[in-house]
Amino acid sequence: MKTEQWVVNEHIEGVPNADKIYKKVIKTLDTNLRPSEMLLKTLYVSVDPYLHGICLDTPIGQHMGADSIMEVVEAGPKAMYKKGDLLQGFGGWQSYLVSDGEEKLWQTGTFPMVFPKYRKLNPSDYTDEYPITTSLGILGGPGMTAWGTMTKYFNVALGETVVISGASGAIGQIVGQLSKLAGARVVGTAGSAEKAEYLKSIGFDEVINYKEVCEPEAIQAALKAAAPDGIDKYFDSIGGDFTDAVFAQLALHSKVAICWQWATQVNQEYGGPRILPYIMFPRATIRGIYALEWFTEDNWSALIKEVGSHIKRGEITYHHDMHEGFDSIPTAYQSLFNNSDKNRGKVLVKL
Ligand SMILES: NC(=O)c1ccc[n+]([C@@H]2O[C@H](COP(=O)([O-])OP(=O)(O)OC[C@H]3O[C@@H](n4cnc5c(N)ncnc54)[C@H](OP(=O)(O)O)[C@@H]3O)[C@@H](O)[C@H]2O)c1
Repeated sequence: MKTEQWVVNEHIEGVPNADKIYKKVIKTLDTNLRPSEMLLKTLYVSVDPYLHGICLDTPIGQHMGADSIMEVVEAGPKAMYKKGDLLQGFGGWQSYLVSDGEEKLWQTGTFPMVFPKYRKLNPSDYTDEYPITTSLGILGGPGMTAWGTMTKYFNVALGETVVISGASGAIGQIVGQLSKLAGARVVGTAGSAEKAEYLKSIGFDEVINYKEVCEPEAIQAALKAAAPDGIDKYFDSIGGDFTDAVFAQLALHSKVAICWQWATQVNQEYGGPRILPYIMFPRATIRGIYALEWFTEDNWSALIKEVGSHIKRGEITYHHDMHEGFDSIPTAYQSLFNNSDKNRGKVLVKL
């Protein structure tokens, strides 16, 4: 049978140009399944900024990897799932695929990664308030990144100040709302007045528009006003000048979570001040976030139970920016970089 794929056509550093980077190909898929293999149909694909790094590490001509929801169309007699099951895993930008669903080591690039075994989605875990597509969003990887950081590292206490860069993104919004529920003062960054208003409507106390407040002194002043008692927890997806400013205002025993560094990875900014003196005096802790380490059955159950209950009670909200059709995947991905002012949450593609 035929499968459509978006393959990597060119490696381009910096802000991606999806039209040049990706090429659509139609390939013949060998559907003579081995006993442990399954034929899978992709239903939804997630596009995420971290695919920037994955793409640069993907050999030219190979299909683009990505998180997806897939349906088992056929299964070999020893396959781990059966026909009709819905799975979530790193299926990629392809309409059909053959896989055994096992954990895969990804070692083509800078850092060895292990893509977890495909997991079966239990439709009864999802409701009208949080449908199965949330398994790619608030109850999926982005949710686990936020909830894992909150529960296994931050442990935000009543009255603390939490600052979040990239707060209007899928993960930042969840960190902000969970912090608010923990009784914190929450400050975020966003790139437009509309997005700042949106974040305030979901509970953020202050939002700094990083496109208007961009000089180091101005960022320092805006942070001082927004977080007058210092910053107890900093969730960082962006890096750059904003992060440099945060380090100078860390409170005693503060914690910093490094989730991503947009400024370095995409904008290729490698300079910056020396931050270590700012760590010593407040006795701050900095930790890299690697959400895959929290992808366990127990954590998925806890995430669905805890965050699902918050959604049910109207305490946490989420949004999907849904694109339609296989051909729209690169456009949806590009929107993360050039059109993010239109996005309000998790960007997904329905095939
Ligand atoms: N460490 C891990 O385990 C892990 C796991 C998953 C994801 N991540 C990373 O976590 C980050 C957040 O993920 P996400 O799913 O929330 O992404 P997202 O939904 O695309 O949100 C990213 C946000 O960053 C803001 N942004 C874009 N360009 C910016 C720039 N030049 N300067 C400042 N802000 C900018 C955008 O907000 P505005 O429109 O307001 O500018 C956007 O809402 C991503 O970078 C992703 O790669 C890390």
